[in-house]
Amino acid sequence: MAATPVMAQRPVDLPPLHHLVNVKPSKAVNVPEDFPLNHRGEITCETCHGIEDIEDIPFEEVDKRAPDFLRQGPYAKTTAFCYRCHAEKTYRRQNIHDLLDARGEYDEKACEYCHQQAPDPGKDHTREQLKLRLPPETICLGCHLKTPHLNALDHLVKPDEKMRRRMQASERRLGIILPLDTRGRIMCVTCHAPHERGLIDESKPAGKQVADGDVKEGVVYEDHPWDAVYRADKQARLKKLPGGAAPVALYYRRLRSEVLLRLSARDGALCLACHAFER
Ligand code: HEC
Ligand code: HEC
Ligand code: HEC
Ligand code: HEC
Ligand code: HEC
Ligand code: HEC
Repeated sequence: MAATPVMAQRPVDLPPLHHLVNVKPSKAVNVPEDFPLNHRGEITCETCHGIEDIEDIPFEEVDKRAPDFLRQGPYAKTTAFCYRCHAEKTYRRQNIHDLLDARGEYDEKACEYCHQQAPDPGKDHTREQLKLRLPPETICLGCHLKTPHLNALDHLVKPDEKMRRRMQASERRLGIILPLDTRGRIMCVTCHAPHERGLIDESKPAGKQVADGDVKEGVVYEDHPWDAVYRADKQARLKKLPGGAAPVALYYRRLRSEVLLRLSARDGALCLACHAFER
């Protein structure tokens, strides 16, 4: 998640909450040589956007999916683009899920963001013994939105009896946990493991989680090679509808690597732990 960009100070027409323009970079900022500045040495639209005359295009018509929408993109994360100019060290929020050092050891202070005291990963605990600073259903929300992604909010509900039974069967069969809150509702940590993989031994159900991603890198999406075809096809069909093309963006994205999930969503295993989809 990007830091909140500041509003433009000058009377230029910019989307809301947009990065400022027409400033000369200070020493703190390191603009790559091939990012063009204007004749006064200031950053302009073209410094960041590879789309010609972007300032003359109505905002909603700008193709945000064009690879060069952010210069030399696409970037897996907006923050990766920010770090092209800003020093990563000073801008990065501390990733509190990145708990283990190179030797696999941790600093108990890091646990105390969420636990009053670091629980011993080798022992079994009741939820009370974990001494979470906030109830587990709200502990993620100070730093993450309640709507971090599509469908998250729809899921924070109480599964019906039939689904509960399916979840319990999945827990036994796959040796995982799908914990619910005290009122029996799904919460963030039903699907997400809160800790870096390896903190809790993988032989324990609470320690089972997806293995392919790097917690420092986060979730990585990739543009599917079919994306362009998919969009062109949809766009062509939409144009045929009465009223012409709707101004909707249609993407076909897929997950390349996953982190902090109890099961993989990429292969559907996570979804199938609760849902029985028609085939
Ligand atoms: C310092 C870099 C930078 C400069 C300079 C800059 N932009 Fe942007 N702009 C961004 C980033 C980053 C985003 C994407 C924000 C996001 O996706 O959350 C963006 C988004 C946009 C969008 C899409 C907004 C939306 O949400 O639909 C438009 C349109 C845009 N910029 C136009 C401009 C124009 C016009 C100028 C010059 C007046 C300009 N930008 C200057 C970095 C910049
Ligand atoms: C092309 C280089 C460039 C990129 C890319 C860029 N910035 Fe900046 N940013 C600047 C410049 C130049 C300033 C003016 C302040 C300065 O020069 O120290 C600035 C200022 C800021 C400020 C004002 C606070 C301050 O340090 O003075 C914030 C906040 C900020 N940028 C956030 C972002 C974020 C978030 C992104 C990514 C979405 C981003 N920037 C991408 C060049 C860039
Ligand atoms: C981002 C918040 C967060 C941080 C940081 C965190 N934990 Fe946790 N931890 C949780 C939550 C939430 C649960 C409870 C999940 C549940 O209800 O099953 C938990 C559960 C546990 C459990 C019990 C697992 C089980 O058997 O069910 C242990 C042990 C544990 N944490 C140890 C640690 C240690 C050690 C650290 C520091 C290295 C740490 N945690 C850092 C949020 C965190
Ligand atoms: C039903 C399962 C489920 C629930 C509940 C859920 N998530 Fe997720 N979350 C996922 C999956 C799957 C992904 C992988 C990326 C995707 O498919 O969007 C993900 C991705 C994320 C990401 C990374 C998004 C990105 O694009 O970088 C964050 C942050 C996140 N979740 C936080 C939360 C928080 C906070 C909550 C609780 C409010 C929550 N999730 C609830 C399944 C869930
Ligand atoms: C103290 C703040 C904080 C708390 C509390 C917190 N997170 Fe995070 N989380 C972060 C930061 C920082 C990152 C690194 C990526 C970023 O900057 O957004 C991150 C990354 C993630 C990611 C990977 C997303 C990605 O693409 O990098 C997931 C998933 C996630 N958190 C889920 C959770 C869940 C579930 C909880 C509750 C148990 C939680 N977080 C609590 C700060 C927090
Ligand atoms: C922990 C259990 C659980 C997991 C894991 C889970 N779901 Fe769900 N899902 C639910 C519950 C409960 C509901 C709400 C009740 C219902 O519609 O059956 C729901 C609802 C939905 C809905 C309907 C939402 C709406 O708008 O009405 C969709 C679509 C869905 N899930 C897809 C998925 C996908 C895709 C995954 C995997 C990435 C997934 N679910 C993972 C429990 C889960």
